[in-house]
Amino acid sequence: QKLDLELAAIEKGGYEHFMIKEIHEQPQAIFDSLRGRLDPESLNITLSGLDTIKEKLIAAKRVIIVACGTSWHAGLLAEYWIEELCRVNVEVEYASEFRYRNPIITPEDIIIAISQSGETADTLVALENAKAQGATIFGIVNVVGSSIARVSDAGIYTHAGPEIGVASTKAFSAQLTVLLLFAIKLAEFKQSASEELRKQLSKELSEVPDKVKYILDSTVEDIKVIAKKYQNATDFLFLGRGYNFPIALEGALKLKEISYIHAEGYPAAEMKHGPIALVDETLPVVFIATKDRVHEKIVSNMQEIKARSGKLISVVTEDDQLAISLSDEHIKIPASHEMIAPILAVIPLQVLSYYVGIERQIDVDRPRNLAKSVTVE
Ligand code: AGP
Repeated sequence: QKLDLELAAIEKGGYEHFMIKEIHEQPQAIFDSLRGRLDPESLNITLSGLDTIKEKLIAAKRVIIVACGTSWHAGLLAEYWIEELCRVNVEVEYASEFRYRNPIITPEDIIIAISQSGETADTLVALENAKAQGATIFGIVNVVGSSIARVSDAGIYTHAGPEIGVASTKAFSAQLTVLLLFAIKLAEFKQSASEELRKQLSKELSEVPDKVKYILDSTVEDIKVIAKKYQNATDFLFLGRGYNFPIALEGALKLKEISYIHAEGYPAAEMKHGPIALVDETLPVVFIATKDRVHEKIVSNMQEIKARSGKLISVVTEDDQLAISLSDEHIKIPASHEMIAPILAVIPLQVLSYYVGIERQIDVDRPRNLAKSVTVE
């Protein structure tokens, strides 16, 4: 029994839980998912997984992204990236809904399947149905040789390494890394985004591992204080706009999974259509408020919540004094291009959910009712 404990300690690399170990492995997971694909000098992208379907990709009138849970959130962010850079219509589907609603699928459709485990039953069957109707399946999978990888016509593996914690962290950031590489490469094929923008995004993507390391080194202690302060909240709201809206959803899911506190992610502007009725002095509202094209709008959303005594916890770009002045708590992340910021902004939210879970003495590696891979319906 002592040996088992020692073995477990070695597997956790000295960390208390797999989840916090995997959170800290993200610089490496992102670096490994870029290695051999993004040349940091020339900034050229090589995705051999695209070679066999390049023509189909270029001709596609529609991309359908199919996934569940955290992988679905990666798909939602990919929709924003692919539509912005590749000017092709993208639809993001919950696999469980897609498989049962008799969707319209044509042989011209590209289906992107996102799955860490590659064994999620709803995603797998949704793909088999789509394949039977002639669609091309492109898999973004972490487990090599998994069922979803095998059913895919082509794909790109994330190189996050084995993810043991039930709550997905490093696999999610590896999915985002690979999906942005995909979007930039498709934009190159289609010449639908300027070389200047593609090179800038590629350069900033190559810098993400170091920026994630910097965030982990510089914010964890502050986040522990925030986690302790808000550990007894009964509800949380997570608000974001644009590229940060999917991250608001992901932050809320992480907190639900790991602390059992009810949390909802929302597009920040949607608050005035009902949810703002929830706001009072007991409600922590997490804003992902990094500087981007809608920053002025998210700041006014912050003012709306503050005016109703909500408690603002904000992820901000490090020099954003205005957003900081409006917040009860703030977590600074390095400046980046607005399309890169969400990859950085999710890190503090993962750390927050972990430490709230610890404060609440939850078994964060094995939360109640959850399985690492949902291989049943
Ligand atoms: C994420 O933290 C959850 N564990 C869960 O939502 C997960 O993302 C979902 O079950 C999909 O799993 P997959 O990526 O292995 O398909």
